[in-house]
Amino acid sequence: MKRVGQAMAIGLVMCGMAWAADPSVLKPRVPADQIEEAKSWENPVLSTPENVEIGKNIFHGKAFCVTCHGKDGKGLGNIPGLRGKLPRNFTDNTWQAARTDGELFWILKNGSPGTDMASFVPLVLTEEEAWHVLLYVRSFGNP
Ligand code: HEC
Repeated sequence: MKRVGQAMAIGLVMCGMAWAADPSVLKPRVPADQIEEAKSWENPVLSTPENVEIGKNIFHGKAFCVTCHGKDGKGLGNIPGLRGKLPRNFTDNTWQAARTDGELFWILKNGSPGTDMASFVPLVLTEEEAWHVLLYVRSFGNP
């Protein structure tokens, strides 16, 4: 019986990894004691075509987001050496709706703990650049 339980658990984990609509991507990444504050942060940069373009240049340029998240924003899905969690599929509207801008900004400041999503602010990006790149991340969604 124990064996069967183990096999089922492994099976479930494997399904979770292979299945694009993995519900675990919707679980908040910001720790519970910081999420209320993070949700209160709003993007001060207007989503104009010019500002999205600035974000796009950062995504494809100096911040190297594209190496993990892909040109199409879907996450490349098979990057050697990643410690488990795959890069997010930004074209998933359910995920887009599940996150506030402030939560995404928290991730750019702190990274997603335990994954290969590192912190970019302030070492790589200024806060203003981070807000621009998030406009570009949002542009993959289809409102
Ligand atoms: C080394 C690979 C790598 C690079 C480079 C990278 N990411 Fe990520 N990113 C990831 C992984 C892996 C995850 C999934 C983390 C998780 O599931 O918690 C992720 C998740 C995210 C998320 C979703 C977090 C959430 O709340 O669901 C955002 C937004 C994001 N990345 C933005 C960016 C931006 C913007 C850049 C460039 C400044 C970038 N990433 C660069 C690997 C990367």
